Amino acid sequence: MEVKHIALLPGDGIGPEVMAEAVKVLDAVGRRFGRSFCYETALVGATAIAAVGNPYPEGTHRICLASDAVLFGAVGDPAYDLNPKAGIRPEQGLLAMRKQLGLFANIRPTVCYPALRRCSPLRPERLDGVDFVVFRELTGGLYFGRRGREGDDGAFDTCIYSREEIRRIARLAFETAMGRRGRLTLVDKSNILETSRLWRDEVQQLQADYPGVQLDFLFVDNAAMQLVTNPAVFDVILTENMFGDILTDLAAAVAGSMGILPSASLGSGHCLFEPVHGSYPQAKGRNIANPVAMILSAAMMLDYAFGWTEEAKAVQGACEQSFAEGFVTQDLAPEGAGHTTSEVGDWIAARI
Ligand code: IPM
Ligand code: MG
Repeated sequence: MEVKHIALLPGDGIGPEVMAEAVKVLDAVGRRFGRSFCYETALVGATAIAAVGNPYPEGTHRICLASDAVLFGAVGDPAYDLNPKAGIRPEQGLLAMRKQLGLFANIRPTVCYPALRRCSPLRPERLDGVDFVVFRELTGGLYFGRRGREGDDGAFDTCIYSREEIRRIARLAFETAMGRRGRLTLVDKSNILETSRLWRDEVQQLQADYPGVQLDFLFVDNAAMQLVTNPAVFDVILTENMFGDILTDLAAAVAGSMGILPSASLGSGHCLFEPVHGSYPQAKGRNIANPVAMILSAAMMLDYAFGWTEEAKAVQGACEQSFAEGFVTQDLAPEGAGHTTSEVGDWIAARI
């Protein structure tokens, strides 16, 4: 039997707890569908800084390079927020990893499940038909431009994009739109930013290759408003790194909880799957965090990395069933009820 090698990078905070549940579910997939996984765990984030002084150690990079796919939990530790001047930060591990593995396209689907409507802050009638996917550029823009201080009084961050960086993710977004409702929205700030004008220009040129796709443009401030007032209009959203970071947290709130949204990060040779949420340090070690975003990220891995759509659907179906039957963690449960992280993982694994 072919063995898939999976690098597990649980990271910080609730990362290890939700990762354990994803592994449980993958093992259930293995038993049910006759698949075999070989896991190798590696350090990342604050945990890696504490152990070896580097948030993305060389050893971790080698394990990722040798894997068929990477599953990533979360990084971050509030101890590093106390002193904003402190040099090394856990998040740098995530950025180094994205850059070194060439993961330029971050794909974040947002679906509003009927059973979770009451968790959304939006009125239920606005949630009808909400089903969109954000393509967030992940290795350029403000995150990776030159930054620094100008004496003690000033500071700067630079936003740079090349046509090639725009083109490669835009093609993925166009192709995805063709397989969905055929609508692509480029979100930018081209009334102000030169990089945004380059994005518009490049994406407009590419449109000729995808005649079936209806392309439109929105300024990011307007997009934020539309995501709240009219989220069902969106199909595929394409945007640069920082705008995508901000809008996908907004999208997660619309969907009802940060705890349910998965993501895939794709590149030319490697791929990584991680929940949209962060390390949720307040919940660390308490067995209360929602493991579903991590479990659905594993489902995206089965689909995107291995092409196992039936297996991925089984995992998605089991998660949806847990919503429908109310077997959920406290973030999704009415009046503070709710099951533990591991109970929800067990429940979902048992239904595969
Ligand atoms: C995300 C996170 C990261 C980002 C942080 C942890 C560096 O917010 O994946 O959305 O800003 O990209
Ligand atoms: Mg974010």
